[in-house]
Amino acid sequence: MEYDVTPEALDALIGRHDYFYQRVPLPHGREIKGKDREPLMKKVFPADFKGKSVMDVGCSLGYYLFVAEQRGAGRCIGLERSASAFEHVTDIRDTLGSKVEFHKRELGDWDEPVDYLIGFNVLHHVTDPLRMLHRMVELTKHTLLLEYVTPLNGKYKRLFNVTDAMMNQPLIAVGGLHKPDGILTFAFTPAAMMKILRQHIGVEGDIQQGVSPELDRRWLVWHRP
Ligand SMILES: C[S@@+](CC[C@H](N)C(=O)[O-])C[C@H]1O[C@@H](n2cnc3c(N)ncnc32)[C@H](O)[C@@H]1O
Repeated sequence: MEYDVTPEALDALIGRHDYFYQRVPLPHGREIKGKDREPLMKKVFPADFKGKSVMDVGCSLGYYLFVAEQRGAGRCIGLERSASAFEHVTDIRDTLGSKVEFHKRELGDWDEPVDYLIGFNVLHHVTDPLRMLHRMVELTKHTLLLEYVTPLNGKYKRLFNVTDAMMNQPLIAVGGLHKPDGILTFAFTPAAMMKILRQHIGVEGDIQQGVSPELDRRWLVWHRP
C-alpha cells in the first residue's frame, strides 16, 4: 500500500492491539496478520474505482476499503458493529493517513446510496439477512459485491449430509445462537440467493456468482442495469 507513513509508526501500530480477522498489508513490507482476503479481492474488484463511492458493511479491519481508496475511490465508508474492530480500524486509518470514514454501527436505516456496496460475510451474522439484502440492493447505485456462507459449511454438512448437487436447489440453512455476541447463522445456496434477488427483490441485470477462495463460500456480483 502506498500511504506515506514511517516504518516506526507502523511497528507501533502493529504492537498496539490484538487484531482479529483480516490481514492488512501495510507499507514498508509490514502487515497486520490475519486471514488473507486478497484472493477474493482479486476475483471481484475492478482495477480502479475512479471517484466512485464505496461502502463496506461489516468492514472489519478495512482491508477492502484501503484497496478501493488506493484504486482511486472517492468517498469510502466502512460500517462495523464490533467495538474492538472499530477501535482497531480507526487506529489503522489514522496511522496510514487514509481518508476512509468508519462508523461504529450496523446498516440499519443508512440512507445514502453508494456506487459500490460490499457485504462480505455479514449476512450470516444478522437476525434478518433478507431485510439486509433488500436494503443493500436499494442502496447500490452501480455494483453490489457479496460473499456469503453456503450450507456446504462444515456445520451444516455434518447435520444434513449436504452435497454439491444441493447448491442448485433454493435452500436456506438456519443455525442457532452463537456466543459470545448472539450471532444467528444463515447459509444460502447460490440458487436460493439468485431466487431471492430475482423474484423477491426484483433485481434485473447481470448477476455473476462463483466459488470463493474461502472454503464453503460463494461470491456474487450484481451490476445495476
Ligand atoms: C466474518 S467478519 C467479515 C469481515 C469482512 N467483511 C471480510 O469478509 O473480510 C464479519 C464482520 O462484520 C461485522 N458485523 C456483523 N454484523 C454486522 C452488522 N449488522 N453491521 C455491521 N457490521 C457487522 C462483525 O463485527 C465482523 O467484523
